[in-house]
Amino acid sequence: MTIWCLGSINADYIYTVPHLPAPGETLPATGMTRMLGGKGANQSVAAARAGAQVRHVGAVGPDGDWVLDALAGYGVDVGACVRLQDRPTGHALVFVEPGGENSIVLFPSANRALSPALPRTWAFLLSPGDTVMLQNETDLGAEVAAQARAAGARVVYSAAPFDAEATRAMLPHIDLLILNAVEAAQLAEALGIPAEDLPVPELLVTLGADGARYRDTRDMWEVAAPPVTPVDTTGAGDTFAGWFCAARDRGLAVEDALAEAAQAAALQVTRPGTAQAIPGLEEVRAAL
Ligand code: RIB
Repeated sequence: MTIWCLGSINADYIYTVPHLPAPGETLPATGMTRMLGGKGANQSVAAARAGAQVRHVGAVGPDGDWVLDALAGYGVDVGACVRLQDRPTGHALVFVEPGGENSIVLFPSANRALSPALPRTWAFLLSPGDTVMLQNETDLGAEVAAQARAAGARVVYSAAPFDAEATRAMLPHIDLLILNAVEAAQLAEALGIPAEDLPVPELLVTLGADGARYRDTRDMWEVAAPPVTPVDTTGAGDTFAGWFCAARDRGLAVEDALAEAAQAAALQVTRPGTAQAIPGLEEVRAAL
């Protein structure tokens, strides 16, 4: 089946810094690179690297040809992406300190200027059994989720960057909700319920170096994270999410899909960058 991803496409400016900047501090970086990023684009790349047929839906500005080319270079179909003339491509300033921890400042730009007409140009192509991946870096999440559900597609929402109200609006339309541990606690508090009781059929909570937990309506699984020395953790959650969806789309059982996704994310953090750091399927299989 096809994995559709309505999601952000960013230019990531990645700065290597001796430590994350403190308020009021001016900090010289020791390195800077520009590359494809965005939670949506990273998830699309992860799903494509994991062997899925992936179609990305999103927007860039007049300066965005290189990011679309990069996305297409990973095997993602970008035919449903649009080029807006009135605003630049979204970008992110990513600061990475030794040990791989990061801080990100996001300029959404074109990602938050999607036309409400955009879903009409591709949503009719959805088939039952397709997967639609969404995150909270673009407009139209709830509308597209409702449309996708009505078409019989499986809807997966990564609630990042976290916003309790945006997530609440998505809940009725989601099959699988993906959160990290902090987001799960924030959502549980906002809804006034325990995190285990979040009202979705499937819940995946990523736990960084501690692996991940997944439950559906009947069972629960846990996976450990393979031990690695991280150099850059940016995009690890996106890698896990995209890979897990692709592995399930390939027909893997939950525990096998979790193991592959955890291995892919572990490899991804051992190298610098976001989308470009995501490993291929053979590499992940060899490492398992
Ligand atoms: O999750 C990592 C991503 O968040 C980066 O690629 C950056 O673009 C921001 O969207």
